[in-house]
Amino acid sequence: MNKQDKNTTENESNADIKVPRRSVLEFLLSFSASAVVLSIIYPVVKYLIPPKSREPVTNFVKAAKVGDLKPNSGLIFRFGNEPGILIDTPQGELKAFTAVCTHLGCTVQYRSDLQHIWCACHNGHYDLNGINIAGPPPRPLEEYDVQVKGDEIFAQKRQ
Ligand code: FES
Repeated sequence: MNKQDKNTTENESNADIKVPRRSVLEFLLSFSASAVVLSIIYPVVKYLIPPKSREPVTNFVKAAKVGDLKPNSGLIFRFGNEPGILIDTPQGELKAFTAVCTHLGCTVQYRSDLQHIWCACHNGHYDLNGINIAGPPPRPLEEYDVQVKGDEIFAQKRQ
């Protein structure tokens, strides 16, 4: 084998080695680019499609104990992952509603001076049937059924 033949053989073997290196680099580059794109798209998709609530659907909860409320007063209780409001009316009747205002979702409260439900966020008013009577709320509050069992007061979603 002369010197020229040896160089030709070396060049051919170098060319053989370059092709796999290039492929590896292209693969790594495309893998990195894909990872960057996925790291941008994944949070956007997760934001747009939030996971379903893992909290079980609640239809019946203990709202208070008998004696926790005086006539003409209200009490906020937890109804699943939302607040509810239990009211002992001036006439001594127990009533329960969702405490989520139908305007923009603030928590309503009972105003003993007005003897009705009030939302402090934008001065929304509801009567003791949950009907929106003044201010911006567009709909009535959802009313719950109230049951007294022993010394406990329960609120139940209407079917
Ligand atoms: S959120 Fe209740 S009145 Fe606006």
